[in-house]
Formats: sequence, C-alpha cells, structure tokens
Amino acid sequence: MKATLIVKNAAQVVTSEGASLAPLTGEKQGQIRVIENGAVAANGEQIVAVGTTAELEQKIETDAATRVVDASGQVVLPGLVDPHTHVVFGGSREHEFSLKLEGVPYLEILARGGGILSSVEMTRAATEDELVAAGIKYCRQMLAQGTTTAEAKSGYGLSTEAELKTLRAIHQVDGAQPIDLVPTFLGAHAVPKEYKGEPDRYLDLVIDEMLPRVVENNLARYCDVFCEEDVFSVEQSRRVLNAAREMGLELKMHADEIVPLGGAELAAELGAVSADHLLVISDEGIRRMAEEGVIAVILPGTTFYLREDHYAPGRKMIEAGVPVALATDFNPGSSPNNNLQLIINIASLYLRMTPAEVINAITINSAHAVGRAAEVGSLEAGKKADLVLFDAPNYDYLAYRYGTNLVSKVIKNGQLVVEV
Ligand code: NIG
Ligand code: FE
Repeated sequence: MKATLIVKNAAQVVTSEGASLAPLTGEKQGQIRVIENGAVAANGEQIVAVGTTAELEQKIETDAATRVVDASGQVVLPGLVDPHTHVVFGGSREHEFSLKLEGVPYLEILARGGGILSSVEMTRAATEDELVAAGIKYCRQMLAQGTTTAEAKSGYGLSTEAELKTLRAIHQVDGAQPIDLVPTFLGAHAVPKEYKGEPDRYLDLVIDEMLPRVVENNLARYCDVFCEEDVFSVEQSRRVLNAAREMGLELKMHADEIVPLGGAELAAELGAVSADHLLVISDEGIRRMAEEGVIAVILPGTTFYLREDHYAPGRKMIEAGVPVALATDFNPGSSPNNNLQLIINIASLYLRMTPAEVINAITINSAHAVGRAAEVGSLEAGKKADLVLFDAPNYDYLAYRYGTNLVSKVIKNGQLVVEV
C-alpha cells in the first residue's frame, strides 16, 4: 500500500472507531482505542492505515517522496473539531472587562447596550476584508493549538447586510487557511438597537429577509438562536428555527445557559442537531435530548469566564445517554479563548468527565455536531488525514497539564501545517 506520509513510533495513537454514523453515548462515550507504539499512514489527503508501527512498516511502501514523521514520546489524536465558535467578529471587548470584574452581570451589560451589542457596532463598522483578516488570525491560533475543523457563526451583524457580510467573510476565511469552517447563521443572536423592545418585529426581518438570502446564496448549513431571558423566548426561538428548517437549514440552539427556559426541550422537539451551553438544563430536558439523540455541546470555558457558580451537568447527561461534545465558544465577550486544550482541563475538572470521554467529545462527537463525522473526527482508513501530535507521554497527560500549548505538529489533509 502506497503512502505519501507516515507518522510512526507514537507513544500512543488515540482514536474512537466505528462511530462515524452516530455519536458516542453512555459508556461508549468513555471507550477509546489506544495503540501503543502507534502509526498512521496517509496517501494524499486520506488516511490509508492505522495500527502499530511494526504493522504499518510491513504494509506500507514508502519511497523518497514519502514524508516520515517520528512521533516518539508523543500522543497522536485526530485533528480536534471545535463545534461552537463565533470566530468572525469586529473589534474586541477588553473595555468591558472592568465592569465584569466589578460584578455587573452578563445580561445587565447587554441590557445597557454593551456586550453582544458593542461587538455588533464594531462588526458593522468593519469591512469584509477586515473581518477576513481577523478571522484568519484567530484560525491560525486555533490551528497551532490543534483544531483542524470548526463551526463558525454569524450573529454580530444583526442587519441583513452585516449578517451576509459576516457569512461571506466566514467563507473567505475557510478558503484562506487550513482549518475547515462549517458556517452557521445566527441572525437571532440579540435584538439590535433599531428594534429595541420589538423582538418579534426583528424576527420578521430575520425570517422574511435574512434567511431567504442566506439560503439562496448557500451561505450556511445551520441556523442557531440565542434562546434566553430578555433575548429570544422559547416561542420566538421555535418560530425562527421552524422557518429555517422549512428553508432547508439544520438547527442548533444556545439553550438553557443562564435562565432555565426549556430550550433543551425545544431542541428535542425540533430535532436539532445540537443544543449548546445547558448549564441550567432540566431533568426533562436531559431525558428528551437523550430520547431524540440531540448532541449536548457543552462550553465550560464560558462558564469559567462568566464566573458562574455551577457547570453544565456533563456527567449526568452522559449517564442519561445524551451524546456530549465540547467546544470553546470562542467569542469576544463570554469566552475569548480559542484553545480546546484548556477545555480538556476544565471539562475533566469541573464536568467530571474522564480524559477518554473528553477526547471523544472534541473529536468524533464534535464532528457529528458539525455534520462532518463521515470525513473527520477519528483516525480511520478513508477519513481525511487530519492529525495532531502532542508532546505528551500518554493521553491522561493532556488533562493533567494546563496552560501550555502541548501541540508539536499538526497535519491537515495529509500536509504538515504546523511544526513547533
Ligand atoms: O455563546 N450566549 C450568547 N452568545 C455568545 C456570547 C456572545 C458575546 O458575549 O459576544 C455565547 O456565549
Ligand atoms: Fe455561543
């Protein structure tokens, strides 16, 4: 068998297997294949073999053109998949950090016209090229930290023109650097100031004008909504999501983050692909998500950064059979972190997930949460050769160390794109 790339001598190659059709749930979420002295071979953009170094050295023909990567003393994982980010936005919000330290609540900053709405001002003021340049910069940071696929939401434009500009920028960023981006339309992220106090009238604009343009121009795969007290109610969320589904988009939700409104139940009712955040999800919400197979995308970096006193019940959801994925929620306000390695630490410590459950949550289950599990999320023959090498003797070490970028190499589509 021919190979253009072989990664060999890894202390461990760590990957799920056989989970490309449905996400891992329950006990299976914690099962992972570990190959000691492992190797992965690729031909062009695709993986052709995974096994021990001895097995692959037998099977694989190499020639002078084959790139051989020695992974001695390192752990090899599938390229990480970040299934919830707001990676394209204008400006930044360090000027609001002092308010946050004074204890002004997140929703109060938003009600004063700051928060999401101050990022809206900056995103509207930015040109498409400026948004693209910033998005490329953030994606390069993510790539260097091991992310090779990510979801990317609009939602800081909140006018037809600025939402379309953001989605076009996401497509440009996708094409301009190695990370594959999966676009989500989040026009219902907040009520813009021109529609203050009139969320239903704003949703008319989202449904009648924005959504048709997004769909016509093939700009998004998913539609999302921020279902939250004083933002969009369950009824309003149902309205925008139903309209999006009728126009052919798949559904996601920001649900049950701060006030328990029943967003998880709505996600189950509508057959959403995922419901995200879920700090205050009800027992009924957990039961319904498990029943309908809705993926819980938990964002523990946001909980940490908002200084909330409790995390989403990750352990309880896994035990109830909800497929769990994890993401950074990278955004300029509630989570200016785009490093999934920090999410590994916070999820292990505060969601009480095992390192194996966490790795599945940022690889195969997160690939399902962005509809890409047939191509990425595990190291299996036929999938894209997206791999990340960590300077770590075993995978537990990734949960144990924190605050240091442990990535030594990233391979995307069979090409070495990061070398530290
Ligand atoms: O996922 N919750 C709503 N949206 C983002 C925050 C956006 C912001 O603060 O800019 C989130 O946390
Ligand atoms: Fe978010």
